[in-house]
Amino acid sequence: MERTFALKGNVIYTPVCGQLELRSGSYLVCEEGVVAGIFDALPERYQDIPVEDFGEKLILPGLIDLHVHASQYAYRGLGMDMELLDWLEHNAFPEESHFADPDYARRAYEIFTEQLKYSATTRACIFATIHRPATLMLMEQLEQAGLPCFVGKVNMDRNSPDTLRETTEESLSETRRWLEESSDFHMVRPILTPRFTPSCTDELMDGLGVLQREFGVAMQSHLSENRSEIQWVSELCPDTHFYGESYSRFGLFGEGCPTVMAHCVWSEEEERRLMKNNGVFIAHCPQSNMNVSSGIAPVRTFLREGQRVGLGSDVAGGAHLSIFRAMTDAIQCSKLRWRLVDQGDSALTMAEALYLATKGGGAFFGKVGSFEPGYEFDAIVMDDAGLPTTRVCTLDERLERVVYLSDGRPFAKYAAGKRLF
Ligand code: GUN
Ligand code: FE
Repeated sequence: MERTFALKGNVIYTPVCGQLELRSGSYLVCEEGVVAGIFDALPERYQDIPVEDFGEKLILPGLIDLHVHASQYAYRGLGMDMELLDWLEHNAFPEESHFADPDYARRAYEIFTEQLKYSATTRACIFATIHRPATLMLMEQLEQAGLPCFVGKVNMDRNSPDTLRETTEESLSETRRWLEESSDFHMVRPILTPRFTPSCTDELMDGLGVLQREFGVAMQSHLSENRSEIQWVSELCPDTHFYGESYSRFGLFGEGCPTVMAHCVWSEEEERRLMKNNGVFIAHCPQSNMNVSSGIAPVRTFLREGQRVGLGSDVAGGAHLSIFRAMTDAIQCSKLRWRLVDQGDSALTMAEALYLATKGGGAFFGKVGSFEPGYEFDAIVMDDAGLPTTRVCTLDERLERVVYLSDGRPFAKYAAGKRLF
């Protein structure tokens, strides 16, 4: 597999939040799977490398989905008239119970993996279910598809139906075994996934903290998504001052434990301060926030505070897997927040939304999400020829039209220096 090559086309990326770099008709060079640079003309030393000429098409960094439930893909778009806790009970938990059946899980994950592969997303932080064999099956499929994702076997030992609950001991021993078995993968990595505090006893969280330190793995969960959920956590954990403490007291909230928390819609100052200090990533999932009526996360506040933020589809709280769609939802939500909630919180720009969708979330994976030299080579090629117009558009206008209007399917896609299609 050729890992040194150049793509020619209109290259767009955002090295700094709010700043678009636009390089029309340029050569984007990949050397051994890593970005070497962007050049107006191909330098002498690269004269012999293969060049793929994409003409007038747009070349962007691959998009990052910082929060998605692969096991919920089957019921996207259903039950969207419920709030979070009812929705979990009536939709998520019954569907996820089916993943005890390996045949069901294989078929469901084949659909998800196929959809993800042909989307604009190159990397994702994925929730599977509590079932170890099904989770490994998903990891195998993603590895085959060439998608360098984080995947989590979910932990749940309370407040869930009999069909979707483990004992504490079982949850920990299955997680240990799954972590050991995950060392077979090259590209796909395991991530600890306590579903959320209401689903996990203190004993389970404590054991997961021990596993985190032993295996040095990252962790993902949900945080301060919905007001009833936050109230519930304060009753379940009376000795905590805020929701985030129910994770941090077990060493599962940043610092030595790379962490991504979905939502943070209602995170108060003290919680946000701890996230900032510990480098906890926030997965902003605007469509899910609307669908299950959670609220509008203060993404402008996050950016002003210097929080680490990316975007998530949160399928199936979000109905759409597209991170282009998450970008437009984030922009639109931020406008409503600006007009209706806080006049000090200005709306997101397109350049900021692209940053969140690429370098913002990509940082969770390392040097990912940009075309600066040294970044892993993740790229998508978008063809806007299918969006005809009489208008003569500038490059940034063409980007805007692709984000708002395209079906989100790239013409070509590369992850970690490898062409996927
Ligand atoms: N909180 C706990 N589980 C879930 C889930 O599956 N989706 C969302 N959006 N929030 C959750
Ligand atoms: Fe979620």
